[in-house]
Amino acid sequence: MDGTDSKSPAAPVAGRPVKLKLSNVSKIYRNGTQEIHALQPVNTEIREGEFVVFFGPSGCGKSTLLNIIAGFEDVTEGEILLDGKPVEGPHHDRLMLFQEHGLFPWLNVIENVMYGLKRQFRFKPKACRNRAREFLRLVHLEEFEKVSIHELSGGMKQRVALARALAPDPKVLLVDEPFPALDALTRAKLYGDIQEIFQRTKKTIILVTHDPREAACLGDRVLVFSGRPGRVKADITIDLPRPRDINDPVVAECAAGIMVQLEAPGE
Ligand SMILES: Nc1ncnc2c1ncn2[C@@H]1O[C@H](COP(=O)(O)OP(=O)(O)O)[C@@H](O)[C@H]1O
Ligand SMILES: [Mg+2]
Repeated sequence: MDGTDSKSPAAPVAGRPVKLKLSNVSKIYRNGTQEIHALQPVNTEIREGEFVVFFGPSGCGKSTLLNIIAGFEDVTEGEILLDGKPVEGPHHDRLMLFQEHGLFPWLNVIENVMYGLKRQFRFKPKACRNRAREFLRLVHLEEFEKVSIHELSGGMKQRVALARALAPDPKVLLVDEPFPALDALTRAKLYGDIQEIFQRTKKTIILVTHDPREAACLGDRVLVFSGRPGRVKADITIDLPRPRDINDPVVAECAAGIMVQLEAPGE
């Protein structure tokens, strides 16, 4: 078991500035004459440095909402404000970390991290490289900068992707079901790393998952999605100290509480 002395209490988020404000955000996909109602109106505020989890079973609109926040999909109705300004289309102030890593196999580790920095650093290779190194250190891959992507394990690839997403210093990091392809040990390690990075960078993060333990382990707040079209059924604050261990019974108990909210009869 972890000693409690190394843990810090969950930082209070009330009182911090609102980073994202979602007002009546809904989505209907239209394919020709077919309409798919994916999401009922969502209203919520996400504060600076908050780690929010969108939790729920498959098909209830979690990825749809994440893609809308990323700017990959339009809203059908409603509005999203980032720092008080409307979100219109993709921008590097909101970066998405994909499940399949999205790494370029023809570039090595550090070149992958540098790729997204070139424009920001006006193509100055040294500045780019220094910044990339800083983030490789953050994910404990500083020894692997010249290694090719195909030589890395799944967990290491995921950490390169994390470094690449964080290096341009996005205002919000969006993460869609990043871990299912990993074995249990790698996953547990990565949960630890993500929390450490979250605490060090104080990033605003939104993570999508259908795993209640993952939600309880990572989130400051869990929005529980359900139904088709999806809606936010509950908004739960997770007040456990960090870092949290996925195998801690307290996390399991909290996950059970999240499941109760999911299964509670709707109005
Ligand atoms: N590009 C799309 N075109 C049409 N329907 C879609 C599209 N993406 C998702 N959907 C539908 O919207 C609903 C919500 O999907 P999604 O947001 O992927 O849910 P989740 O991420 O919670 O599994 C589902 O019925 C899905 O089939
Ligand atoms: Mg999804």
